[in-house]
Amino acid sequence: MKILMVCLGNICRSPLAEGIMKTKLSHDFFVDSVGTISQHEGEHPDKRAIKTAANHGIDISKQVSRPITNADLNNFDKIYCMDIDVYEDVISKAKNEEQRQKISLFLEVLGDHKNAEVPDPYWGDMKDFEDVFQLLDKGCDKIAEQLNNPTTHTS
Ligand code: 4NP
Repeated sequence: MKILMVCLGNICRSPLAEGIMKTKLSHDFFVDSVGTISQHEGEHPDKRAIKTAANHGIDISKQVSRPITNADLNNFDKIYCMDIDVYEDVISKAKNEEQRQKISLFLEVLGDHKNAEVPDPYWGDMKDFEDVFQLLDKGCDKIAEQLNNPTTHTS
């Protein structure tokens, strides 16, 4: 099972989501993250994201930003988007229904559609990064529960 986390720049939210998700799943799962823009391609995550993850014992410092490719839509089984703009961008790249079925909003797993966006902390401060970490941690717990017990969930 291959899981892809997607945000805009792949330097704040999705690297955190990748790092957190890896701590909750066995090595049978492959977890990666990408952005919808290429502006930060080749960069390590934002220093504040690295620090926030490190505060929770997670090392994301070696991750490298890359933009999403058409191959990702084939290769990954589940594609989680951090906000609605990202979701719409990724859906617009899907070539068929099979690919569309893989794509969802990350926070939908928490069942609260009004708050289904992970806020972008890029223009914020360390408190915003910590809030995002907590939100991602909750969502990753729920996703891990679903993936570890696939028969009890329909989506
Ligand atoms: P991310 O945050 O999508 O969570 O990685 C951002 C990173 C970079 C930019 C915006 C958001 N940017 O405009 O460069």
